[in-house]
Amino acid sequence: MTYNGSTPGPTLRVRPGDRLRVTLRNGLEAPTNLHVHGLHVSPDGSSDNVFVMVDPGGERVYDYVIPADHPSGTFWYHPHHHGTVAEQVAAGMAGIIVIEDTLDTAAPIEATTERVVVLSDPRIGTSAGVVLASSMMDAMQGRVGDGVLVNGTAQPVVTVATGTMERWRILNASASRYYPLQLDGFEWWQVASDGSRLAEPVDASGLVLAPGERAEVLVAVGHATTATLTTTWQTTTGMGGMGGMGGGQGGGTETVLTLVATGEDVSLPAPAGGLARIESLSQAAVEREREFRLAMGGMMMGGGNGMSFTINGATFDPQRVDVTADLGTVEEWTVTNVSPMAHPFHLHVWPFQVLEASDGRVPPLGWKDVVDVPAGGWVRLRVAFRDFAGRTVYHCHILDHEDRGMMGVIEVR
Ligand code: C2O
Ligand code: CU
Ligand code: CU
Repeated sequence: MTYNGSTPGPTLRVRPGDRLRVTLRNGLEAPTNLHVHGLHVSPDGSSDNVFVMVDPGGERVYDYVIPADHPSGTFWYHPHHHGTVAEQVAAGMAGIIVIEDTLDTAAPIEATTERVVVLSDPRIGTSAGVVLASSMMDAMQGRVGDGVLVNGTAQPVVTVATGTMERWRILNASASRYYPLQLDGFEWWQVASDGSRLAEPVDASGLVLAPGERAEVLVAVGHATTATLTTTWQTTTGMGGMGGMGGGQGGGTETVLTLVATGEDVSLPAPAGGLARIESLSQAAVEREREFRLAMGGMMMGGGNGMSFTINGATFDPQRVDVTADLGTVEEWTVTNVSPMAHPFHLHVWPFQVLEASDGRVPPLGWKDVVDVPAGGWVRLRVAFRDFAGRTVYHCHILDHEDRGMMGVIEVR
């Protein structure tokens, strides 16, 4: 399953103030729709409306008005048809949306070599060109593939000349796999997170991308060497080793991509100074505090099989509004995970900032739209409900969990 015949789908490049129109024609045998993950656009009408479905053979024109002050960054699109999101995304339906601004075309960013790095892990087995179906265990644990792909390719090799700065927009488009990333051979810095540039560059060692998360990184290619970007299998669960199941993944280190640098040594200065002025919400007046409790519940009712996944005790119901918030206010949300697995919590339309986390892993100052909530832990975040009213969703970005109910409805008015 692809967009325009390729996986990932085409990279869409737009600027703040643009209007993006996309025609989705459904050539699948099942319903689908389109979500623009992370974009701060209206959730209504023909904009980022995930309550609309496109039947097989049908089509729909999506029309996104991107605010003139939209932060630049790396966003993405994928299907959002409840019940089949994991299947369709894992099968290859995902693509990048880049929002560029003038800083992208100014020094030093302009001198970098930009690449998109879409990470996925389809389960292919020995089949040719078919992504295999998932099991009940996948639904609980989250499906796992046979290895990591970069832009649909296994272990690509990138050859570059020394003296250049590589800039990678990395997206975790896997349905459920986490990517702890390590680069051996060069220094690297993170310059943007999900929804915007960071206030300043930070050392990227220790970078972990949960499903749905993005990071933009700079790699200083200063000397001739062969460097590898690697990942390890990170279990998201304390459930007796279930983390290694699914695609038959063991532990160990896997190569994501190889960077071969040739040429004379060049000393490249570390990126320094301010990248963006990020307004911190830590001093904002909080209108309301809320609690969200992520849990793995009993068996699913009514024809479902396997365990249900809940937020505040309920599974997703598109007819129910779980949270009503006021436009123009800032809210503080505490998301608690009482289950034995980590869950990446995601909110549509309105980006947030993470203030505190039970394990102390607070992301650097910048706008986020996915945050990992560790097993048995919590995160505290603040959301500014600006610019758009309307109804949309928040959910776990382990897409099998979302399909099994770990999603709620928010209406801002
Ligand atoms: Cu990336 Cu509601 O999704
Ligand atoms: Cu989203
Ligand atoms: Cu989850």
